[in-house]
Amino acid sequence: MGRALLRLLISKESELRRKYDVRWRLTGIATRRIGWIAEPEGLNPIAALSSHFPQLANPPRNVREWLERSKADVLFEASSLDTHSGQPAIDHLVAALEAGAHAISANKGPLVHDYQRLAGLAKARGKQFLFESTVMDGAPIFSLFPLGLPATELRGFAGVLNSTTNVVLTEMEKGRSLDEAVKRAQAAGIAETDPTHDLDGWDATVKVTAIVNVLMGVPLRIEQVQRTGIRELSEEKIRSVRAAGMRYKLICRAERRGDGVECRVGPELLLMSDPMAGLEGTSSAIRFDLDVMSISLVEHNPGIEATGYGLLADFLRAAKC
Ligand SMILES: NC(=O)c1ccc[n+]([C@@H]2O[C@H](COP(=O)([O-])OP(=O)(O)OC[C@H]3O[C@@H](n4cnc5c(N)ncnc54)[C@H](OP(=O)(O)O)[C@@H]3O)[C@@H](O)[C@H]2O)c1
Repeated sequence: MGRALLRLLISKESELRRKYDVRWRLTGIATRRIGWIAEPEGLNPIAALSSHFPQLANPPRNVREWLERSKADVLFEASSLDTHSGQPAIDHLVAALEAGAHAISANKGPLVHDYQRLAGLAKARGKQFLFESTVMDGAPIFSLFPLGLPATELRGFAGVLNSTTNVVLTEMEKGRSLDEAVKRAQAAGIAETDPTHDLDGWDATVKVTAIVNVLMGVPLRIEQVQRTGIRELSEEKIRSVRAAGMRYKLICRAERRGDGVECRVGPELLLMSDPMAGLEGTSSAIRFDLDVMSISLVEHNPGIEATGYGLLADFLRAAKC
């Protein structure tokens, strides 16, 4: 994610300057292995893309020292997701906001575990907490609301939000076993080494929880989502329904019920006439059911650039606020 963002920042540098009067400098990088690197005068982004980092004599020891030394105006949080705690991303984002930087997250964990606190902290500090790339990459899911759809109530939504299962189910329809389909998704760089998170519906559940917390204003925990993965679907069943003009998809649903929201993630059998049945490859889609209408967004076969774009779009929103 970090590299995809950096490539986009480099390729769009003059466009950002010309059209938006926004200039950027890379003043810090941190990962588990390389530690905390800060250089307020600016690091070489091309060298960083090829993993050439300066050796600091006295490197920062933690996120707060790193933010202070780098004099960051914006922090991009793209560490690995911890589904059950949202850490260390939450600590990174809190530290950024407290240091007076905008906080932009690709990590869904903070939306699931600490959205209210982070949003409140951002407001109190007059900074932005943005997270467009967490669901459907660069598609404007969160930024649709409220600006693009003022005075509407979101009553529910349905979508295909996990690309690994979409790819795996498509491969199984073609005759591959679950293991073979997962291996193909891994070889294409779509599935993780440990695909459990996707196959058992956790990724989709985390996304549903994030959307409900942010857009429906109802605090929801991941355990409250009724979750079924795709492992129980047999290869024969997947192929026979396909031959009969139907398809299984891992569907995410949320529906307002009184003061709460009822949510579920699980495989559903769709007729080919259903727009979600036609989603191929890494494509994803969401239908928002509003009080005044329903609208859908479809993202066609996104690659890593699309996720990088979600971060770039947030960066511009923060820089121009
Ligand atoms: N890839 C996508 O298409 C996509 C789409 C939307 C959202 N996201 C989210 O974006 C985030 C990054 O995804 P990715 O695909 O770029 O993952 P990735 O390739 O696994 O990279 C994760 C990065 O986080 C670093 N990291 C992990 N734990 C850390 C810690 N405790 N402190 C500091 N750094 C830590 C890792 O450092 P080391 O390498 O040094 O261990 C690595 O650089 C995840 O939260 C993911 O869910 C990804």
